[in-house]
This record gives sequence, C-alpha cells and structure tokens, in this order.
Amino acid sequence: MSENFINQIYYGDNLDVMNDKIADNSIDLIYLDPPFNSNRNYNRIYSTNTGMPVPEEAIAFCDAWELTEDKIEQIKLFTEELKVQDNNENFANFWEAWVKNLQFQNEKILSYLVFMARRLRIMKHKLKDTGSLFLHCDPTASHYVKIILDGIFGENNFINEIIWCYNTAGRGKKRFAKKHDTIFFYSKDNRKYSFYGKAVAIPMKAGRESFGGRLETDEKGRKYRLVYGTKNSEGKTKYYKYYLDEGKIPEDWWVDINAIQSQDKERLGYPTQKPVALLERIIKATTKEGDIVLDPFCGCGTTLDASQNLKRKWIGIDICMLSTTLIEERLKNNYKILVKGKDYIIDGIPITMEQVKALIEKSDKSKNEGRYQFQYWAIEKVQGFASTKKSGDGGIDGSIYFYKDENKTLGRMILSVKSNKKLQASFIRDLIGTMENNNADMAGLISYAPPSQDMLNEAKKSGTFKMKDGLFANVEYPRVQILTAEEILNGKKFNLPYSRLIKKT
Ligand SMILES: C[S@@+](CC[C@H](N)C(=O)[O-])C[C@H]1O[C@@H](n2cnc3c(N)ncnc32)[C@H](O)[C@@H]1O
Repeated sequence: MSENFINQIYYGDNLDVMNDKIADNSIDLIYLDPPFNSNRNYNRIYSTNTGMPVPEEAIAFCDAWELTEDKIEQIKLFTEELKVQDNNENFANFWEAWVKNLQFQNEKILSYLVFMARRLRIMKHKLKDTGSLFLHCDPTASHYVKIILDGIFGENNFINEIIWCYNTAGRGKKRFAKKHDTIFFYSKDNRKYSFYGKAVAIPMKAGRESFGGRLETDEKGRKYRLVYGTKNSEGKTKYYKYYLDEGKIPEDWWVDINAIQSQDKERLGYPTQKPVALLERIIKATTKEGDIVLDPFCGCGTTLDASQNLKRKWIGIDICMLSTTLIEERLKNNYKILVKGKDYIIDGIPITMEQVKALIEKSDKSKNEGRYQFQYWAIEKVQGFASTKKSGDGGIDGSIYFYKDENKTLGRMILSVKSNKKLQASFIRDLIGTMENNNADMAGLISYAPPSQDMLNEAKKSGTFKMKDGLFANVEYPRVQILTAEEILNGKKFNLPYSRLIKKT
C-alpha cells in the first residue's frame, strides 16, 4: 500500500500533527518514548546543541507539568472526546472520578496524564486494525500510564509489559539500583495484530539456561531441549520440544541490549537517546518491509534510523527544532542515498514569510501546546531557551543566558514574542518594566510586524549594556533590542556579549 509513501519528519506538537497530517487507520506500529522529566531533558537538549549556558533556576521557568488553566481545559476536552466521539462511557466515568481525586492529591501527575491521554487516544485512531503500540516509560509513572492505556485500548489489548534492563553508571546505597525501563505493548485489536516472533528469535544455547529441561537429539540429528510441564486433567504430563536451531522468541525481560554508553559510536549526545538495537527488535517483531512506523516523540530519530535500516517507511514528530536538524544529519551520515524532497520531507519549519504567517495562524487556532509554536520557533531560531511556564512570570516567553564577565557570571536577556499585526510603543515600555522587575540585564522583542519609529526610540532610551571586565569590556550592546520574524528567518541573531567571549576563549 505504501509504495508512493514518502518518509516524513514533522516539527510541531504531535497532537496537532497527528490530527492534521496523519490518516486514521494508516499506521502499522507506533513507538513512543515521551518525556516525563521534561524540564531536565529540555535543559540538557538546549545546552548540548547550542553550547549556550543555562542556569539551574531556569528549570523553574519550564515546568511543563503544572496544572494550568490550559490543562484543566484539556481534562474537560478529553472527557468529552471519550464520551461523545469514542462512546467510551466506562473509562470516561472512571477518568472523572480519578481526576477529582488527583486534583487534590497529585496535580503534577494529573497534568502529565491528561497530556498523555489525549495523545494516546489519537494514536489508537491512527493505527491499522493489525497495528500495535509500544510505550516506553520508567517506573516513575508507568503504573498510572498503564491505567490510561487499559482505558483507551481496552484491557484485552494489553499484550506485554517488557522490562528492559541496562547497566549504566550510578548506584545509590539506600536502595536497589534502578536499572530498568518499562515498555508496554498494546494491540489495536488482539485478534488481528501482527507478531513475527521468529524474526527476532535469539540463538539458543545448548545448556539449561535457555529453556530448562534436558538436551535430546531427534532421529534427524537435530538437538532440542525436552521440557516437562504440568499434568492435564487426565493425569498426563505435557511436554514441549524446543529445537536449538530455531532459536527462541525473547521473554518479556530484555537483558541483552544495553543502554547507550558514553563511548558508543551511535551516541549523538541527545539526552534520553535509545539504542538502535532496541528499536530494531520491536520493529522486526511487529512489522514487515514496507510497513509504516510512527514515532510521535522522535527525539534524535532512533526509531527512524532503525526503520530505514530495516526497509520500513517512517514518520517522526518532535516539538524541538534541534531534533529535526540532528535527524537529518543522522540520516545523511548513515544512509547516504537519502535525499530531502525525494526520500523524505520535512514539514512545519517555516522557510518563507508566508509560512511564518501560516505558523502564526495555526498557533492562534491551536488549543494545545501548538498555540506556542510560533514563539518556540522564534526563540529557538535565536538560540533562546523557551519558558513553557505560561503564568506568573510577567510575560517572559524565553531567555538567552550569556557570560557577562571573565568569571563566567551568567547574564540574562529576557525575550518577548509578539505575533500581532500592529505593534504599540507600550510593548517596549512593558518589556523594560519586566526586565527591571526580574533583574535581567537585557531584553529582546521578537515581532511579526516591523517596529514603529516610536518603539525604536523607546528601546534606544533604555541605554546600553557593557561587560564588567575582559577583552570586550568597552563594547556597548543596546540594552533593549528588536528583531522581526523576517530578520530571524534570514538568520539574524541578537547582539550579545556571549559570542564575543566564545571567540576569545
Ligand atoms: C525522551 S525524548 C525521545 C528520545 C528518542 N526516543 C531518541 O531515541 O532519541 C522525548 C522527545 O519528545 C519531544 N516532545 C515533547 N513534547 C512533545 C510534543 N508535544 N510533541 C512532539 N514532541 C514532543 C521532546 O522534544 C523530546 O525530543
């Protein structure tokens, strides 16, 4: 079916992308490795890829799991979706009672669960009847997530809980070392799902450790292990023959694939990167060549890499633009034949002003995280650190941190993003007020519309910033700066001391 299918990388919120771009009943396998500790991850992604510093305090500005007004709205929306669109009264009733309780007990987990629940519901719709879903998580939230999966997919469609064990550095003295993740395997329909166990069979050893029982040889000289089971109702003991040359389908605990180590060749420095071997096992076990694999939280593209290698078609979505850059490079390095536009497309990153306008319109319409997409894009383009916390920070959409003296003391430029078609000089006055209230060193306005002369004058009045010491101590940087979306599109950045310091060191 997928002959004319072109592989796809999307930049954006996966809820919007799945709704807008992916047909129902079209996907064979979904693997997802969503962020739980998202603040820490984002922090690390940002620093790894831009080389810019981020202070610990910045984490407070991007707590994605706050129970904000937005999230409360989404809880209602999800309940409606379950009742009206899915006819899933049972789970809707359970969900409502659960929400009432979690609202008082654990706001953070509730906020995470509604984020996951809305996306998992859509994922089920995107799967073919023969398809399956693998959700990768750790024990922090796995027990909650399984309840959501049971509610959406149905308990009957639970196939496996895979325990993936690894051996990484770091062991506490007060508990057993935490060295496993959990991967839930659900089918869309347990009577129809595809499973190609033999494709992932592992070689069997002759010893007892493979299956137990005793080693025998049949009349053709083939070796097998003979294993006795329990007695049946007629008192006969059941027995099983496991031939060594057939290998064995792995158990639901995997100890033979390690997590990525610092010296591994496949390591790209993306936090939470998973090993290709892990994805290859999942893909081989549940799809065949030409099938379509979707990873809606694709990070640095491990699933896409493994799918390409195994001749499957693929779709990856990530909300972080840096991830799309890494994926393109990864594909180019590993599969030289991959040509943009012919072998794969990238969608969602604007490259013309028309597309910037479309991104703003889309962000305005979105009821999800997608509503911040224009902000995220603009801030990421100027190598800023977006704040996902949208309340209580006086309208700061992001920040850029830079070294302001030779001791590497961190300075901060706060960022405000305006998609308005008309700008007012008061935007600059408000921004200066926020800069002062937050003890920031500089402020940057990113606007869709070009600034008026009044605004430029207001910005100029706020004076300049100078580094305390060092080679560039005499250079003056305008304290308040303005960049338009068009300038950003053309690669222009704010004028900051950081780049000067880097050049010197
Ligand atoms: C744990 S990482 C995935 C790592 C991936 N398995 C790999 O091997 O590289 C989670 C990813 O989800 C992305 N993400 C978070 N929220 C998202 C959303 N709403 N839509 C799309 N991607 C999202 C993050 O940017 C991050 O790259």
